[in-house]
Amino acid sequence: MERNPIFHQTRLRLAAWYTLVMGGILGLSSLGVYSVVAHAYRETIDQGLQSVANALHKSIEPAWQQPGQLQRLAKEFSLELCVAQTNCLPKTTSIKKSITEAANPVNYYIRLLDRSGKIFASGGMEIDNFSVTSALEHWQILTDSSGTRYREITLPLYTQNQISGYLQVARSITDLDQHLAYLKLALVLGLPISMIFVGLSSWWLAGRAIQPVYLSYQQMQQFTADAAHEFRTPLAAMYSTIEAAIKLQQEPKANSGILDVLKRQNRRLSQLVGDLLLLTRIDQKELTGEYQPCCLNDLISDLTEELAFLAVETKVNLSKQVQFSENLYIAGNEEQLYRLISNLIANAIQATSSGGKVTVFLGKSELYAMIKVEDTGIGIAPEHQLRIFDRFYRVDRARSRTSGGSGLGLAIAQAIVQAHKGNIHVQSQPGQGSTFTVRLPLSP
Ligand SMILES: Nc1ncnc2c1ncn2[C@@H]1O[C@H](COP(=O)(O)OP(=O)(O)OP(=O)(O)O)[C@@H](O)[C@H]1O
Ligand SMILES: [Mg+2]
Repeated sequence: MERNPIFHQTRLRLAAWYTLVMGGILGLSSLGVYSVVAHAYRETIDQGLQSVANALHKSIEPAWQQPGQLQRLAKEFSLELCVAQTNCLPKTTSIKKSITEAANPVNYYIRLLDRSGKIFASGGMEIDNFSVTSALEHWQILTDSSGTRYREITLPLYTQNQISGYLQVARSITDLDQHLAYLKLALVLGLPISMIFVGLSSWWLAGRAIQPVYLSYQQMQQFTADAAHEFRTPLAAMYSTIEAAIKLQQEPKANSGILDVLKRQNRRLSQLVGDLLLLTRIDQKELTGEYQPCCLNDLISDLTEELAFLAVETKVNLSKQVQFSENLYIAGNEEQLYRLISNLIANAIQATSSGGKVTVFLGKSELYAMIKVEDTGIGIAPEHQLRIFDRFYRVDRARSRTSGGSGLGLAIAQAIVQAHKGNIHVQSQPGQGSTFTVRLPLSP
């Protein structure tokens, strides 16, 4: 395939397209995976933060702006609230601890803001270097001076149905950023590596996909070469005969032999063209619509009678054996079935020397009609048995040429059998004879 530029380029193009499409699909899938994972992480963080904030809000709101109540509450819940950075409560740290232990190394902070948004109290982690003044949006992401990002939730605190301050709870999202960075790295590195594998497998797959096309292309080339060769022989013979006729124009007696040669070669050419045409029509399934019930018993009787003269000529004993009394019908094209069986019988007679036997059996199983043509002829060596059904293939070219065969008989037989949805097999021992078995599906 590599030596043929058309197939090589097609394979390359197919592999490139496949890689491109697969690359696009993989890229989109990676993007999808990244978005889903990032969304799931964020959702988990937000839910945790929301429940912590809700719990704190529930406790802080009633005590908010009641003198001494906040300190009492902070003490009660062990909150480390440092009011205005000066009036710090004793560090009893149980909330901070429980939060920190639960999500180490995650940092939390809590802030209380007055109505104008000024920090009134804060707690949780150290927030000295926290430089960002947060807006009062419900959810936001902030970055401190060291670059650490925080997810923050802001809940309003009400006093007599009026917003009197805000509770902010935040959590560092370094762990999320880290996980997502690893995921991104894995995807970014994984994509080109997978593309290399995709590229290699595409090349291999494209090769496999093109292989049958390439094989049939080779067969076509072989067929064209063989057909041209077959046409050349009778054409050359006719040409030289005509040349001789022109030279011998003055001697009318010599012309009769020449005309015989011309007639013979012409018949050979016509037969060749006819065979090729039949093969093409069977290949294109042009004749499958013409199937009718055909009686195989009648076909075999007619053929054994018609070919009896050929058998007598070569002193071969041609007989038939039908293994049942009633007639056996199959749906088919009678002309083609006639051709199929006559090709097999003619081959068997040609391969059998005088005194030998050719027997045609007709049998059946539940689903199939079985036609067997058995001879006691020269047989076929195993290495040829697979190839005899190829177009123009002959085991012994020189011998077949004298008998006028072109090597299309078995190819036609096989094409007819296949068109009738049957199968054909050969069993043979060199020197002992051959048996060709055809199975054809019975009419339903
Ligand atoms: N019964 C057989 N015994 C031995 N060899 C056989 C037999 N049938 C076929 N062959 C071999 O298979 C070859 C192919 O057979 P096929 O019928 O296709 O071509 P052919 O008989 O040479 O020519 P054509 O049938 O086109 O006139 C034959 O040339 C012959 O060598
Ligand atoms: Mg033949």
